[in-house]
Amino acid sequence: MKVILVGAPGSGKGTQAKRFADGLHIPHISTGDILREAVRNGTELGKQADPIMASGALVPDDLMVGIVAERLGQDDAKEGFILDGFPRTVAQAEMLDGFLGRGNGAGGVNVVHLLVPDELIVNRIAARRSCGACGASYHLENSPPKQDSLCDRCGGVLETRPDDVESAVRKRLETFHRQTVPVIDYYRAKNVLHEVDGNAPVDEVFERVKKSLRA
Ligand code: AP5
Repeated sequence: MKVILVGAPGSGKGTQAKRFADGLHIPHISTGDILREAVRNGTELGKQADPIMASGALVPDDLMVGIVAERLGQDDAKEGFILDGFPRTVAQAEMLDGFLGRGNGAGGVNVVHLLVPDELIVNRIAARRSCGACGASYHLENSPPKQDSLCDRCGGVLETRPDDVESAVRKRLETFHRQTVPVIDYYRAKNVLHEVDGNAPVDEVFERVKKSLRA
């Protein structure tokens, strides 16, 4: 199964994608995670992406397209994948169609749009904490760590993501509406879009996404 999750920042893409990837035994490919790992490792890509991400803008298409083409070419993605955070521009969506080899049908993908109002997003992001070492994500109320400020997975220190400060969140929301909503329209026109209300507890949203994909 090939699934693309789209939605505003903080709409729950990463949370849902992890569940699906575990359940379906397909890789969860998050372009945000790939970029954050590059920043942590101080690679050339990370150095370029760091200030752009911190500002809430998008990393240039030519860089993103190379990263995703390389990742989708790996063996574990042959049987399916769940893409989280890509495509974010129409140019990226067109590249993905070309890469998947079926330009007119969006390459056999199912696209799930998680709908969450902007005002809820701000609250969700304010309560998010991420592990500086492994990138695991927590929510102070909905999925808190077992030990205060420490990652359950690796024991790393939990911190606020640099792009989770209010000014960057506002910019990310604006970027989403201006550059990524046209991607949603693009997939709607191809009849591969499933709209799912993401304003519910995590388990309920998971059930809704499953139902939409079965339909
Ligand atoms: P990326 O990491 O993709 O960030 P994003 O799209 O802003 O999404 P988030 O990771 O903030 O949120 P999410 O939707 O995954 O929600 P989550 O599950 O974490 O990208 C970061 C940056 O990288 C971009 O701004 C850009 O600069 C760059 N980038 C990435 N991809 C790019 C591309 N293709 N092209 C160009 N640039 C690119 O949930 C959020 C919080 O809410 C968590 O605390 C979670 O626990 C909680 N939560 C989740 N679900 C629920 C629920 N149902 N109820 C209550 N709380 C919930």
